[in-house]
Amino acid sequence: MVIIGAGPAGLLLGQLLEREGIENIVLEHRSREYIEKRVRAGVIEYGIAELIDEAGAGERMRREGLQHHGVELRFDRTSHRIPLSELADGKPITVYGQQEVVKDLVDLRQGAGASLFFDSEVVAIEGLTTDSPSVQVEAVDGPVRISCDYVAGCDGSFGVSNKAIPKELLRRHERTYPFSWLGILTEAAPATEELIYCRHENGFALYSMRSPTLSRLYLGVRPEDTLDQWSDDRIWDELNTRLATDQTPEINQGPIIERGITAMRSIVVEPMRYGRLLLAGDAAHIVPPTGAKGMNLALADVRVLFGALVDQLKSGDGRALEAYSATCLERVWRAEEFSTYMTQMLHPSYQDEFENGIQMARLRQAANSKEASTVLARNYVDLNSL
Ligand code: FAD
Ligand code: PHB
Repeated sequence: MVIIGAGPAGLLLGQLLEREGIENIVLEHRSREYIEKRVRAGVIEYGIAELIDEAGAGERMRREGLQHHGVELRFDRTSHRIPLSELADGKPITVYGQQEVVKDLVDLRQGAGASLFFDSEVVAIEGLTTDSPSVQVEAVDGPVRISCDYVAGCDGSFGVSNKAIPKELLRRHERTYPFSWLGILTEAAPATEELIYCRHENGFALYSMRSPTLSRLYLGVRPEDTLDQWSDDRIWDELNTRLATDQTPEINQGPIIERGITAMRSIVVEPMRYGRLLLAGDAAHIVPPTGAKGMNLALADVRVLFGALVDQLKSGDGRALEAYSATCLERVWRAEEFSTYMTQMLHPSYQDEFENGIQMARLRQAANSKEASTVLARNYVDLNSL
């Protein structure tokens, strides 16, 4: 089996298959250093942390990851705590960087001597409706063709695998949002124990963290904004303005060691299977990051795909593989719905006062109604295991 992409989805699938003795090769376009440094997701759902444990990759996550039992919604300069675990059967979330999950999986794979090739770009996929598809790879030593029984497309939204589905069969549903996120990683102790999702009339802000000495913060910015328009001083001023309350101290500042601007999009690609090609993760869907669902959704696809492949390859039972796309898409649309709800509620409109009124009503309901906060908590903590 060939797995395209060494992001969380490809690496976890490889690890699970390896433990079942199912031979697989992971091909990654970028270098090891690049994928291990790419700062992205930070929140791991309860059931997805268990999946990482089941794959034998959870040891450092359990030791160094931060367990959180609540999250804060901040609006009108006031904090509203949502007691996540209390509302979601005692379950916590784990705050642990995506690149740490990636590092742990790469270490395991290399320690076990399993095939993982960096700097190897898949440029074409062929024969997907036959029993022996193949991939064409531009590797360090020149072009190579690899034949296999199945191809897992775990190559993210800019990869080749979803483009291998014939246009007449592919449906792509897309929504863009009129804002982006500017994210920073800073060497400063978090001034908050739990994540803070904040709506301010200037825009969205998020206070997150990676460790007791590293904070991760985000600002909602205009889609046309570039990093050179955002000096360090402007970033800190804006974070302080948006996150201010009457009770809490300012945020802790430190050197900014990473920064980037990410556009906000929702995409769903259907179907997630074409012949011997199976898409998983960002290759099939993108959610706006406000619900912290992207990596969780990617790993939940892998859980379904792994089970289906084991049924097919070990017992010749292809039913789960047949149903793979439909099984995943039901959960994917639920995650799109939750991510859209969180996104729309927390990003103010600069023109539409009616929209702003609706947002404030939703926020008050999420903070003050037990029913609404329970739905939010359950979706936030463990949507992908519902
Ligand atoms: P990727 O991580 O994109 O991996 C795909 C890999 O395939 C890449 O390494 C790429 O180099 C490789 N590749 C591409 N094309 C080829 C090719 N042709 N040949 C070989 N290799 C190829 N999610 C959460 O769950 N919680 C969060 O808190 C969260 N926060 C986020 C914050 C930000 C700012 C961003 C940008 C994203 C966030 N996400 C979050 C989303 C999450 O990071 C992604 O959903 C996740 O990376 C998806 O994993 P993946 O393995 O499907 O794809
Ligand atoms: C992060 O810590 O990077 C993070 C946390 C929550 C989100 C998105 C990103 O919703």
